[in-house]
Amino acid sequence: MSRHAAHLTIGQVAERSGVATSALRYYEERGLITSERTAGNQRRYAQAMLRRVAFIRSAQRVGLGLEEIEEALSTLPSDRAPNKADWARLSRSWRPRIDAQIERLERLRDKLDGCIGCGCLSLRTCALNNPDDEAAPRGPGAVYLEPAAHEGATGRRRR
Ligand code: FES
Repeated sequence: MSRHAAHLTIGQVAERSGVATSALRYYEERGLITSERTAGNQRRYAQAMLRRVAFIRSAQRVGLGLEEIEEALSTLPSDRAPNKADWARLSRSWRPRIDAQIERLERLRDKLDGCIGCGCLSLRTCALNNPDDEAAPRGPGAVYLEPAAHEGATGRRRR
């Protein structure tokens, strides 16, 4: 039996995970998943890679960037296959992020009635178009920019 017989081709991983082969190649380029190569230079993935792919997809749905996912995956043990507790530990750290997303959506939902009634769809003030304008109380414009030399110490523009 070949050394790679128990391993999956990229097509099999794509079929079983629902992730396109192009995305799998990209994950591999980024070092998120690994494969071995056959004598004919074809990729072969260990079964355990399916769980890593599932983790990556779930993490992306939660809003994690690939750097964050990479960092999370790097905390998995390298001397053994990750177990259920390892995966649970990783996904537990998503909770605050999910809670924040829920809170943001609830705020948006609560403002929705007023917005629909208003109908202005202002890019600056509409809760639908600009739901998290946390800088709004500080006034209009780019309030986070450093004050330029011709501006006062408060960062307010002179008119
Ligand atoms: S539509 Fe007017 S504030 Fe959103």
